[in-house]
Amino acid sequence: MKAVAQAHTNIALIKYWGKRDEALFLPMNSSLSITLDRFYTTTGVQFCKDLSKDIFMLNGELVNEQELAKMTRFLDIIRNYAGVQEHAIINSTNKVPTAAGFASSASGYAAVAAASTKALGLELGGKELSMLARRGSGSATRSIFGGYVEWQKGEREDGSDSYAKQILGEKEWGLTILSVLLESKCKKVSSREGMKRTVETSPFYSGWLDTVEHDIYSAKEAIRNHDFDQLGKVSEANALKMHATMLGATPPFTYWQSGTLAVMERIQELREEGISAYFTIDAGPNVKVLCMPNDEERVRAALLHMSEVEDIYSCHPGPGITYLPESTMRM
Ligand code: ADP
Ligand code: DP6
Ligand code: CO
Repeated sequence: MKAVAQAHTNIALIKYWGKRDEALFLPMNSSLSITLDRFYTTTGVQFCKDLSKDIFMLNGELVNEQELAKMTRFLDIIRNYAGVQEHAIINSTNKVPTAAGFASSASGYAAVAAASTKALGLELGGKELSMLARRGSGSATRSIFGGYVEWQKGEREDGSDSYAKQILGEKEWGLTILSVLLESKCKKVSSREGMKRTVETSPFYSGWLDTVEHDIYSAKEAIRNHDFDQLGKVSEANALKMHATMLGATPPFTYWQSGTLAVMERIQELREEGISAYFTIDAGPNVKVLCMPNDEERVRAALLHMSEVEDIYSCHPGPGITYLPESTMRM
């Protein structure tokens, strides 16, 4: 009744932005990401007969009522799937800033989906695990797999065709993703709330939907051909389009800060100097920069010179779900 799993975060190159079904976490559009080696969550889950409610420890501390309710709602889905009623102790450690635009919800829910199903003795394949992780956070759908991953939005109302697939293994194409830290405070508008407001109120949202499937096609073609410039261009353009939809929302909002713009500008300058580097930005102020491993040190040095930049984490394509011995986590 006990298991420990590790899941890595991912950075979307073609973004998931908007739900067509909020209860089932069904997305409006397909998305594509790279799982990152540098940032991950390790989660131990133990189901016990004598617990009257779930106990959730995150980074060594008991979470508040609201966070506990979110976890219980997720575990209810797992309990229902497995046909059990026992509550659980969940002990999770994030090696990633929590709720700061670094996709902790992706590694967090992928890890708890894997650990809880294993603890209950279910032997699930990647597809089933991906669909369960999706019910905790959309981006977690993709973190089940390593390397380059596509989450196909699916067509069915019950969500049974909305899951992720690996399109290229983590060792098959070694890009660098520099995660540029500007600030690690909790964000004001969560991705969940931000995408909901955008879908409901932004007149630019239809423009997003009109072009995103073509962006997926172009990104997959670039990955297939190992064409870095094609992948970088479509990723940067896709991120800018997603952020543009938010400015049209009511009330409008943006995740950008002055440092965000400064880094974006610096990357464009580096390109003019002949270095192939492109940026992408999730639901937070920090910027992620894509470049080839050969250019990593030059790009890093250029960005570290900037006063707005606090730190830079160098990431590469990382693995999918792994299971650890039960003894690795004190329950
Ligand atoms: P981000 O994914 O950018 O970190 P989100 O607002 O999407 O920010 O998600 C943050 C939320 O994800 C947290 O408030 C918490 O509910 C959930 N979360 C983060 N880490 C974990 C974890 N290790 N286990 C379970 N849930 C987690
Ligand atoms: C901008 O997966 O955090 O990072 O499904 O509501 O939990 P919920 O949202 P979340 O949204 C991620 C949005 C994004 C783009 C992406 O990761 O594809
Ligand atoms: Co998230």
